[in-house]
Amino acid sequence: MSKSQPIQRAAAAPDLPSGTIKFILYCLKCFRGLMILMLILETGQAASNIMVPYAVKALMDGVAQLADGPVLETLRNPLQLLAGLALAEILFSRASGAVLIIMGPRLRQQTTRNLYTYLQYHSVRYFGDHFAGGLAHRISETAMSVNHTVWAVVADFWPIAITFAVSITLLLGVNQGLGLFVAGWVFIYVLCSYLMATRCQPYAKNYAATRSLVNGKIVDAVTNILNAKLFARLDYERDYLNKFLEVELQTGRRTFWFMERVRWFQFIAAAALKLGTIYYALTLWDGGLITVGDFTMSVGLALLIINDARNLTRRFLEFFEYVGNVANGVDTIIRPHEIIDAPNAQDLYVKTGRVEFRNVTFGYDQSQTVFEGLNVVIEPGQRVGLVGFSGSGKSTFVSLMLRNFELQRGQILIDGIDIASVTQNSLHEQVSLIPQDPSLFHRSLKENIGYGKIDASDLEIAAAARMAHADDFIETMSEGYEALVGERGVKLSGGQRQRIAIARVMLKDAPILILDEATSSLDSVTEKTIQENLDRAMGKKTVIAVAHRLSTIAHLDRILVFDNGQIVEDGTHEELLTLQGNYYRLWSMQAGGFLPDQA
Ligand SMILES: Nc1ncnc2c1ncn2[C@@H]1O[C@H](COP(=O)(O)OP(=O)(O)OP(=O)(O)O)[C@@H](O)[C@H]1O
Ligand SMILES: [Mg+2]
Repeated sequence: MSKSQPIQRAAAAPDLPSGTIKFILYCLKCFRGLMILMLILETGQAASNIMVPYAVKALMDGVAQLADGPVLETLRNPLQLLAGLALAEILFSRASGAVLIIMGPRLRQQTTRNLYTYLQYHSVRYFGDHFAGGLAHRISETAMSVNHTVWAVVADFWPIAITFAVSITLLLGVNQGLGLFVAGWVFIYVLCSYLMATRCQPYAKNYAATRSLVNGKIVDAVTNILNAKLFARLDYERDYLNKFLEVELQTGRRTFWFMERVRWFQFIAAAALKLGTIYYALTLWDGGLITVGDFTMSVGLALLIINDARNLTRRFLEFFEYVGNVANGVDTIIRPHEIIDAPNAQDLYVKTGRVEFRNVTFGYDQSQTVFEGLNVVIEPGQRVGLVGFSGSGKSTFVSLMLRNFELQRGQILIDGIDIASVTQNSLHEQVSLIPQDPSLFHRSLKENIGYGKIDASDLEIAAAARMAHADDFIETMSEGYEALVGERGVKLSGGQRQRIAIARVMLKDAPILILDEATSSLDSVTEKTIQENLDRAMGKKTVIAVAHRLSTIAHLDRILVFDNGQIVEDGTHEELLTLQGNYYRLWSMQAGGFLPDQA
């Protein structure tokens, strides 16, 4: 569970250990004082609890020797002790409650923040491999489980250990045989509880897995509710879910039956201790070896132990579950960061905007390469169109310029500097991308556009919206720029979303601009007007524009035709037409329409 060698991580990410126990200790790092205080308070509480039978013993001994004097006067000391203990228990337990309130939410907040920060530095590939909802769930689950693990140790196991230790010591003081009897019982009981918890763990895990499976099924079905409605499959979906619910029920029952067996053991063991102690103590008293007070105390202590020991199996089980949750979160999130800034990486400042792919070999996995030794130079200020069939590598090409993935071989240089040697932040500040399928934050339109420039004024935002022709539809919305766009922007049409994405990139105004099908969802009239503004916004920037609709890139300085990861044609629109190759065929086939899927 705990791996000790350090893993590759981004310099700005917190130094989280990748082992479960070390991770929990790391989370507690800044709470040392409070932790110690908490342990002291819990000790106080356990001690004041356990001293009660001792005070009762003193009371009983007092009562037994009671002469004719005033009762309260003779029993003053034990009574005071009892009252003091009751008060101490209240104070200790409430003080520890207060510490918990001070520390708990803060611990959870810090764990969440640390995990979230660590997660941010994972690569695009990592986020492609994990579900967003799953990661969010992992973070909150892990943070909660760190808290629960700590409380289980501090507020459950620790006081129980104290209770057991003090009781046994007191009993040994009364009579060695009695003390050893209870000690033996405690030892066997704890051992059995632990073993049973480990045996129960697979059941509990299985049950948790089926619960989360059912959860996943419901999420999937709700996400696809439109499909279910359109295909009139609501009944079908209910039956489908029922099958999983049935499995959940069966596993649940199996788990609970096992727990029930454990409870049989616990009840029998408790009865054995109770009766055993009473019988043993009675014989001792009968033999005149202990006082009546000792007798009461022994029985009182036995009851206290039983009270604490009850549910120990359950507590172990929950403890395993919490630790398992933390381990799971740590395993998922605290992985090495795939792409990190080189040590001493400098910031990139684009001066001319020359882009070069030098001998670039890349594949999403080792077995299949998209590019094999690709070489291409894009001169400063050049506006380049990329065309090619679906899947030919255009989006991959632009994605590599942003260092979303690590190359297998070769280099990508901007102004002669390898992008792998500069900070990713500066690279992303200097290169703008309007992706093929832009998604928006579920925040207001204003915030979404303003994302391009964090301190943008309302005027600047409105100007950018105007440039992207988003202003007319925004103004028709009842809440205007304050309107929320729904998860990933679902409340906007595809074309509206694209225009917001264009506006925020215009506001960002980076020296290198990449458009991946940036206007593909727009009607031809809107596209044409935006195109003019885009052309103006391009200014002296280096521009790379991917398009299926060739009319949108025909006027650019240069066109690269991609086929299967290779650049098969390179030249201006006119040159490529005279070549009578792929581009010519595409152009002639496209009567203002789209590229066919196959040649
Ligand atoms: N994240 C990914 N993981 C694995 N393979 C990928 C990934 N993204 C793309 N691919 C694969 O890489 C190849 C090139 O894809 P790419 O997205 O670059 O094509 P494209 O030219 O942009 O196509 P389109 O015109 O449809 O957008 C395809 O075979 C695709 O299946
Ligand atoms: Mg693409």
